[in-house]
Amino acid sequence: MLEIREITKTYRSNGMDFPVLKGVSASISDGEFVAIMGPSGSGKTTLLNVVSGFTSADSGSVLLDGEDILTGDENILAEIRQRQLGFVFQDFMLLNGLTIRENVFLPQIIAGRPAKSMERKTESLLSMFGIGDIAAKYPAEVSGGQKQRAAIARALSNSPSVILADEPTGNLDSKSGAAVIEAFIAANKSMGATILMVTHDAFAASYADKVIALKDGIVFGELVRHGKPKQFLDELLDFIRKVNGDGYDA
Ligand SMILES: Nc1ncnc2c1ncn2[C@@H]1O[C@H](COP(=O)(O)OP(=O)(O)OP(=O)(O)O)[C@@H](O)[C@H]1O
Ligand SMILES: [Mg+2]
Repeated sequence: MLEIREITKTYRSNGMDFPVLKGVSASISDGEFVAIMGPSGSGKTTLLNVVSGFTSADSGSVLLDGEDILTGDENILAEIRQRQLGFVFQDFMLLNGLTIRENVFLPQIIAGRPAKSMERKTESLLSMFGIGDIAAKYPAEVSGGQKQRAAIARALSNSPSVILADEPTGNLDSKSGAAVIEAFIAANKSMGATILMVTHDAFAASYADKVIALKDGIVFGELVRHGKPKQFLDELLDFIRKVNGDGYDA
C-alpha cells in the first residue's frame, strides 16, 4: 500500500511563493495501476518527484507499507528507493554508452545481485518486452518505443514493488505508446507491480484501474474504472473535460 498524505509544496522564486501542492492525498493499493492526470502545471510531476524522493515536500508524508519514505536517515531512504521503487522518465534516461542489455542490467549490478540471477532476470525482461533482438544495440541505434520499453525493463529489473512513471508515452507515436502501455500491463499482471503513471494521454489512462485528477494543487477527483478500457475511455474523456473546465476539449 502506498499512501500519500496531505502533501504540500510551495516553490519560491524571485521572492515570490508559488504553491503547487496544497494538501494532496491518495491511497494506492498493492498491484493497483493508477494514472495521474490534470492540466499542465497542476503539479503532477512535482507530486511524482516527491513520492520518488527527488523533490522535498514542505509537509505531509508518503507511506510505503506503513513506512514513511520521506523522512529519516538518508542512507536508509536511498536503500528503500533502490529496492522498492522503479522509475520511468519521459525522456527515457538510458545511458548512451551502454547497450540496451547493459542498461537493463544496471540496477541489479548497483544492488549487488548474484551474476546468475541477474542474467536470468535480464533475459526474461528483454524477451517480455520484445527487445531481446536489439539487446546488443546502443540506445542511439533503436527506436523511441524500443528505448522506452528498455527503460521500463530497467525499471523492473530490481523487481520493485512500485513503478513511478512520468509521461511514459509522451514522446511516442500511438503505436509505440500502446506497446509501452502493454508493457506496463504485463508488469502489473505478471509481477504484481503497483504503477503510478502521470499522463496526458486518455487512451493510456483508460487502462488504469483508477485515475486521479489534480487541479490547482488539490485532488479534483478520482475515477475508478469499471469494465474494459474501451468502455472506460468515454467516461474518462467526460471526466477530463470536467477537470479542465468548459471550453477545453482534451
Ligand atoms: N523547480 C521549480 N521551481 C519553481 N517552480 C517550479 C519548479 N518546478 C515546477 N515548478 C512550477 O510548479 C508548477 C507545477 O509544475 P509540474 O511540473 O509539477 O506540473 P505538471 O502538472 O507536471 O505539468 P505538465 O503537465 O506541463 O508536465 C508549474 O507552475 C511549474 O512552473
Ligand atoms: Mg509534468
